[in-house]
Amino acid sequence: MIGRNQSIISEFLLLGLPIQPEHQNLFYALFLAMYLTTVLGNLIIIVLIYLNSHLHTPMYLFLSNLSFSDLCFSSVTMPKLLQNMQSQVPSISYAGCLTQMYFFLLFGDLESFLLVAMAYDRYVAICFPLHYTTIMSPKLCLSLVVLSWVLTVFHAMLHTLLMARLCFCTENVIPHFFCDMSALLKLSCSDTHVNELVIFITAGLILLIPFVLILLSYGRIVSSILKVPSARGIHKAFSTCGSHLSVVSLFYGTVIGLYLCPSANNSTVKDTVMALMYTVVTPMLNPFIYSLRNRDMKVAMGRIFKKIPFSL
Ligand SMILES: *[C@@H]1O[C@H](CO)[C@@H](O)[C@H](O)[C@H]1NC(C)=O
Repeated sequence: MIGRNQSIISEFLLLGLPIQPEHQNLFYALFLAMYLTTVLGNLIIIVLIYLNSHLHTPMYLFLSNLSFSDLCFSSVTMPKLLQNMQSQVPSISYAGCLTQMYFFLLFGDLESFLLVAMAYDRYVAICFPLHYTTIMSPKLCLSLVVLSWVLTVFHAMLHTLLMARLCFCTENVIPHFFCDMSALLKLSCSDTHVNELVIFITAGLILLIPFVLILLSYGRIVSSILKVPSARGIHKAFSTCGSHLSVVSLFYGTVIGLYLCPSANNSTVKDTVMALMYTVVTPMLNPFIYSLRNRDMKVAMGRIFKKIPFSL
């Protein structure tokens, strides 16, 4: 409830990154380059998969969805970060802040669900190769994608509505580079117990369950390969799963470390650097890890580049 003597905050200040002023331009260039790489890399993947009909298989359709999600995920935070690095007053409106939080949660969760779908796809492909096409039917793939969207839309909505209930009185400085949920909770002058409880429960469900499912899938893959060891099988499995597992551990390691093991002392620098890992670095690396090492993608890319000289 809003008391009479409380002013309502209409704007927040985003402190941004703990960077010395003399390094500001260097980091601006670095983040701009990383953001452009993310956008370009992910766009190339979406276009390549769209243009090549032989890449319209579950694995590549999920990959294309993941690229779309990565593209949106980094566009939620990066443009605002870049803008704020150049402006004197790095502010964000109250509505802007809640909107950013909503889309941050939306695309962050979507990424997490898509990684599960991709792990399941590899599990079926390697453990049940003969039944692959019947199990991973277009209908199942579409259902998995739609289910991910529905769950993530509701989850993001839940947290945003719970946040909109809170009052913000005098403190409006967010020691972060985007409107992070836990940073906002610390500023609120309302009782945040319900929010914290809901975050703890849903973070457990939304992060740990996918993580366990992914580990199970890859565990089954490894054990099925070890049962009938053949040099070719081992090479094939490790070349695809090794890259998947590195993305998965980068994403979940930082997110779980950040939200489920909150640091006792307010080490904002550590939190910010970890947040940078999964908001900036992971979306940028995903396209390279998942596809540019992949032969089908390279062939598809080569074909496109061969066509370009004719059209010019
Ligand atoms: C996402 O996946 C679904 C189901 O496989 C597919 O129909 C759709 O085209 C994909 N979307 C994108 C943007 O790749």
